[in-house]
Amino acid sequence: MSVIFHFLHLLGLIFLMCRTFSAEPNVPTPITCTTRGADLAEALTVIVCPSNCALQQLSVFGSGVYASVSSICGAAIHRGVIPQSGGPLKVHRLPGRENYLSSLSHRVKSQTLPRWTASFTMSKLISQPMEVLGESSTTALPRPGPAKKALKKNLKKPAQNGNKDCQVDIAMLLDSSYNIGQRRFNLQKSFVSKLALMLRIGPAGPHFGVVHVSEIPKTEFYLKNFTQPKDVISAIKEMGFRGGNSNTGKALLHTVESFFSPENGMRRGLPRVVVIFVDGWPSDDLEKAAMRARESGINVFLVTVAKATLEELGMVQDRNFAQKAVCQDNGFFSFNMPSWFSTNKYVKPLTQKICSVDQMLCSKTCYNSVNLGFLIDGSSSVGDANFRLVLEFMAGITDDFEISDLGARVGAVQFTYDQKLEMDFNDHTDKEAALDALRSIRYMSGGTATGDAISYTIANLFQPHKANSGRNFLIIITDGQSYDDVGGPAQAAKSEGITVYSVGVAWAPQDDLRAMASQPKESHTFFTRDFTGLEQFQQTIVKGICRDFNEAQ
Ligand SMILES: *[C@@H]1O[C@H](CO)[C@@H](O)[C@H](O)[C@H]1NC(C)=O
Repeated sequence: MSVIFHFLHLLGLIFLMCRTFSAEPNVPTPITCTTRGADLAEALTVIVCPSNCALQQLSVFGSGVYASVSSICGAAIHRGVIPQSGGPLKVHRLPGRENYLSSLSHRVKSQTLPRWTASFTMSKLISQPMEVLGESSTTALPRPGPAKKALKKNLKKPAQNGNKDCQVDIAMLLDSSYNIGQRRFNLQKSFVSKLALMLRIGPAGPHFGVVHVSEIPKTEFYLKNFTQPKDVISAIKEMGFRGGNSNTGKALLHTVESFFSPENGMRRGLPRVVVIFVDGWPSDDLEKAAMRARESGINVFLVTVAKATLEELGMVQDRNFAQKAVCQDNGFFSFNMPSWFSTNKYVKPLTQKICSVDQMLCSKTCYNSVNLGFLIDGSSSVGDANFRLVLEFMAGITDDFEISDLGARVGAVQFTYDQKLEMDFNDHTDKEAALDALRSIRYMSGGTATGDAISYTIANLFQPHKANSGRNFLIIITDGQSYDDVGGPAQAAKSEGITVYSVGVAWAPQDDLRAMASQPKESHTFFTRDFTGLEQFQQTIVKGICRDFNEAQ
C-alpha cells in the first residue's frame, strides 16, 4: 500500500519535473516564416523568427488568438510581439475555438475562420503572456525534426550587432559558371556561408551581398537585404547555379556600377571590398574592370581555387589575370586554395584579411585622393627667409598625405604680378620627391596680383587634371593687399568644385581673405601676424581638408 503510494508520488514528481522542464525551454528554436502553430510540439515554446517574413504572403487566421494553421511569425508581427526584422518570442498553445476574427495590424492582414481545433497566442520574450493560460496543456516531449536540427547548428544566436572592428561592405563574387560546375558550386556556397559566420555580420559590423559570375552577371542579394548571419546563410542556401562562361570582368564591372550604391545599402565612408572567387580562370578580360574598381575606391581580393593545369594553360586568355585584378599586387589581396575540399582552415585567414581595415590601400580617404594645390605669394614684401617658412608650411601639410599616382597629388603656383607653375599635379608621384621639389621652389620677388593668380591656377593646375568634386583643394598663402579683385576669381574656383583655404600673414587684409575662402568662412580663413605663426595652422588645415572631403562624399 505505502509502496504503491510512494510509487505514485514519485510518478507525480517526475511528471511535474518533465512539465516544468519542457514548459520553460530557454534556448530559442529558430523557425521559418511558414512554420505553423500546429508544428510546435510543446505547450509553451520559445522560438526566433527570421527577418522580413512580412514580405511574404503568409496565412494568418484570427486576431490576438490565432488558429494553429496560421504562420507563427506572420501572427507575431500582426500581434506586434516582434518587429518586421524578426526576433525571439514565446508561443503559447490554446484550445480550439469558434470565430477567429480578421484584422489589419502592423501591415499584416489576418483572415477569418469559423472554427479550428487548436489555437495559439504569443508574448514578448521579456514580458508576461498577454493571454491568460486557462486550459491545462499536454506535455509531449520535444521532437525536433531534421530541418530544425540543421538550422539550430548554424543559428545559435538570435540577433547580433556584428563585429564592430570589421565595418566593411563586402560583395562576394561567386563563380557560377560551367567552369566550376554544380557540385563545386555547392562547396563554394558552404565555404561562403562559413565566411559569413566568421565575419560576424551585423548592423554595426560587416555587411554582405552576393553576385553571380556567369555568362551575364546577376546580383543574388544586396548589402541592404540582410544584416544577420542566419538570413545571409539561408539566402546562400537557396541560391541556384547559373552556368555559362566565367565572365569575371563583366561581373566586376556590374558590381562597381550597380552593387555599391547607397540605394542598395552601401554605407558612406566605410571600406568597400570585392572578393572574387575564380575556379580555374576567367573567360573575359579583367583588367579594365579592375581599373574601374580601383578608381572607385574598391578593394578587390581574388580567391583562386584549382589553378589551371599545365595542359589547360594554353586556354587561359591572360595568365597574369590575378595580378591585374587585385587592388594592389603585393600579395595581400590574393588568396589561393588548392581545391574546394577541406577548405575549413582557410575561413579564418581570409576573414582576417577582409577585416584588415587599415590595409585597404584602395579605399578612398582624404589622405589618398585629393588634389592639393598651393598658390604662394612671391612678392617683394615676403623676403627670402620668410619665403622658406612658407615652403616649410606647404611641405608640412603635404607630408600628411599619401602622394602617389593613384593617391593624393600636390602642385604649386607662385605669383607676383606674374604667375609661374612651379609644380604640376603629375610632376611627382612619390612623397619624398614632392617634398624636395616644394622646398626647392625659388623666390621670385615682385608685386601682388592675387586675383589673376587664382584664375591662372584654375586654368593651368586644376583644369587639366580635374578630380571628382570634393577632392580639389586650393590653399592660398599671401602677405599683402592684392592689386586686383580676388572675389570674382575665387568664386570661379568654387564653381569649378575647388575648395579654397586662405592663409594671410602680416598685411593681408581680412576682407580679401574672407572673400577668397570657401564656406564656412571661419574654418577656411587663417591669419597670423608673423610667418613663424604659419606652422600652427598645419594640423587644422589638414583636418579641415579631411572634414570637407568626408562631407562631400
Ligand atoms: C532585396 O531587397 C529588394 C528591395 O529592398 C527586393 O526587391 C529584393 O527582392 C530583395 N532580395 C532578396 C533576395 O531578398
